[in-house]
Parts: sequence; structure tokens; C-alpha cells
Amino acid sequence: MIDAIKEKLQEIEEFAIDSQDRLEEFKRRFNGKQSEVRALFGRLKEVPNEQKREMGAALNELAQKAEAKWKSAASGLVQKKSKASTNSVDLTLPSYPHELGTRHPLSLTLAEIVRIFERIGFNISEGPEIEDDWHNFSALNFPENHPAREMQDTFFIEKNPDMLLRTHTSSVQVRVMENEKPPIRTLSPGRVYRNEAISARAHCVFHQVEGLYIDKDVSFLDLKETLAYFVKELFGPKTKMRFRPSYFPFTEPSAEVDISCFICHGDGCNICKKTGWVEIGGSGMVDPNVLKSANIDPEEYSGFAFGMGIERITMLKYQINDLRLFTENDVRFLRQFKGII
Ligand code: DAH
Repeated sequence: MIDAIKEKLQEIEEFAIDSQDRLEEFKRRFNGKQSEVRALFGRLKEVPNEQKREMGAALNELAQKAEAKWKSAASGLVQKKSKASTNSVDLTLPSYPHELGTRHPLSLTLAEIVRIFERIGFNISEGPEIEDDWHNFSALNFPENHPAREMQDTFFIEKNPDMLLRTHTSSVQVRVMENEKPPIRTLSPGRVYRNEAISARAHCVFHQVEGLYIDKDVSFLDLKETLAYFVKELFGPKTKMRFRPSYFPFTEPSAEVDISCFICHGDGCNICKKTGWVEIGGSGMVDPNVLKSANIDPEEYSGFAFGMGIERITMLKYQINDLRLFTENDVRFLRQFKGII
């Protein structure tokens, strides 16, 4: 009998209760009226009288152990269940709204400029920001030691004075002309660098977009019509455009491009400084010397070029009064461009 009790105790101790079903099975086998433990109580009558007390005590202990194990397992399972239900994910809940980011205003302006010129057959070309003297200056008809080089304060690379950070995207014109045959219609956007103190109106890093058209019989009229189309598309159909005579080493004749003030329409405001006109860039007919530098025959081909500052156009379009806002990453500024594509 004592062996049967020990055996049952071992069974009880080894019985793993890891689910509701196992808990019930445990109860059936070891706790209830019909349980195996109760059956052992039934066998007490076979025990000789002098051992009855001892066996009775051992059986009571067995029954208590079975009862205690059942209780602690039952409360453990309840806890597990409630923990599981607080941790579990409710897939029926609506999701948190994900806030959409905004595109940077400079990217917005550039994308719009690109779309406008792509519609009239321009492709996109890019060149390196670390450029050599030839592509940034010499091939663009800036003679060595000529004062025109000082129109743009240049960052030179100390270890190699022939290398510099490009001061304008006109350098890409040269690269395209060297690598492609006319007809060429290309738009070259990119970052440019000038040694200038940072202020509301100037920065040492900014962006330009360069345009170049080379073909047979390209005239000044083509330049004017192309830019007139562009300003109407970008600033609205009522926008007028005018040329002001200017000088650039790589174009002849050269002209500064002004548009009618789309804020005050000529009545006079701060943006146009009460003149009714605002400048948006430079342009001109590609100088024959530039064509020659890129092995294009100026007797056969002619072309026009223009260049604009993307920051400047963005400031005009969205009436932004400080250039530094573009690089400060202030979300209060950037969020105002939400939803524009
Ligand atoms: N590269 C000039 C600048 O950075 C802008 C420019 C003027 C580009 C006239 C041109 C052009 O292509 O024809 O100031």
C-alpha cells in the first residue's frame, strides 16, 4: 500500500498542467470523488489495523498535495489567460493615421521646371559638382586671368588648383556638347557653390538649372519664345517677359531675363521693389568660341542657353523672404508645402 501511495505521489508531481484540458484531466484523475486518489482510500480496509493510522495519514497528505497542485495550476492558468488578452493585438481596431511627409520646396520647383521643358522636347543631363577649370571656365570662353572669372567667387580645391567646386551649371553644357551631336535640347539641374557669406539673400551652396539648345538656324527669337512659354507655364498665363542687355563670356548677345511682377502686376510691391519687374536668370546665344571648344562648327550650328537659380524662382513663386529657410529643416516651414506635388 505504501508503495502505491508513493507511486501516485510521483505521478501527481510529474503531471504537467499546461492547458485547461490538462487541468481538467488532473482534477478527474486525482481530486474528484471518482479519482485514483479516492480509489486508494477505498483500499484502506485491506490494510492491517495497526497500519491503518499511518496509511490514513499518508493518504490524506496525498489528497492535500493533489488539491494544492490543482489550485495553484488553476490560478496560474487564469493569470496567463488575462495577460495574453491584454498583450494581444486587436486586429479589428482602425490603424493610426500615418502622416505623409512633404516634398522640399526646391524639389517642387525643379520638378515643375523639368515638366515644362520636357513637354517641348528637352532631356535632362547632369555633371559633376567637383569640376575642372576647363568645363567651368575655359571652355565657356572665360580667358585665363580675365576679370570675368571674378564675377563668381570660386572655391578651389587646395591640393589641385585645376579643380574647383562648380560655380554654375553652365559647365554641364560643355560636357553635353563634347559628348553629343546636335540637335541638342537639354536641361541641367544641380547644386553649385560660391564663396559667399550666408545671408537672407545669398548662400555658398545653391541650385541652378541650365538650358541649352543647339541646332541649325537657332535664333534669338527661338530663345525669346521658349522663355516666354516657360514663364507663362510656371508663373501663370498673364506673365510677361522682357530681356535686359547683359554680359556673360559664354553668350553673345547676352540678356538678363525679367518677368512682370505676378504679385502686384506692376502696381508696385516689395518683391519687385516697386519696379513691376523681377529678374529670374540670364540667357543668350551660345558664343561661337564655346561651340568651337566643344568641336561643334559655329558655321553650321547655332544655339541658345539660359541659366536660372532654383532658390530664386522658388522664393518668388512661394513668396519666401529668407534663403536660409531652405536649409534649416524647420518643419514649420516645410509643412506648408504639404500636398503639393
Ligand atoms: N551661368 C550664369 C550664372 O551662373 C547664368 C547663365 C547666364 C547661364 C546666361 C546661361 C546663360 O546659360 O546663357 O550666373
